Amino acid sequence: MSELTFSIVKPDAVERNLVGAVLAMIEAAGLTIKATKMIRMTKEQAEGFYAVHKARPFYNDLVAYMISGPVVVSVLEGDNAIARYRDLMGATNPAQAAEGTIRKKYGKNIEANACHGSDGPDTAKTEVSFFFSQLELVN
Ligand code: CMP
Repeated sequence: MSELTFSIVKPDAVERNLVGAVLAMIEAAGLTIKATKMIRMTKEQAEGFYAVHKARPFYNDLVAYMISGPVVVSVLEGDNAIARYRDLMGATNPAQAAEGTIRKKYGKNIEANACHGSDGPDTAKTEVSFFFSQLELVN
């Protein structure tokens, strides 16, 4: 079943000119980029986006990191896109990520781990609409 998922190319990857490389891996994996844009998140946006992690010890650092530079947010589409993009990203900690995954190839550490992807259907819906309007989701 075709579904949408949400992706972020994080500041560490944008800074190292890896936007094209990450998006190329996404396309090579058969996922379609339905919408994409480069943004610089405000503190309020990053806090809101990662609100589920508010109680975690890494929350403040995570927010500071996500606003440290521009990011590229995208909506990806494909059969089983949520799980497929998570497989393509690899484990959250690049040191534990499998060969051939985005985080193994380009992640630096658990915080600067190159990319983010939605972890389930509800999150995907919320995350897509957090950054994209209906008008931006071109068919
Ligand atoms: P992401 O998929 O963007 O979701 C939350 C992020 O928190 C995660 O990727 C990591 O980059 C970051 N993070 C930082 N420290 C940790 C940690 N100890 N455990 C899990 N996630 C962490």
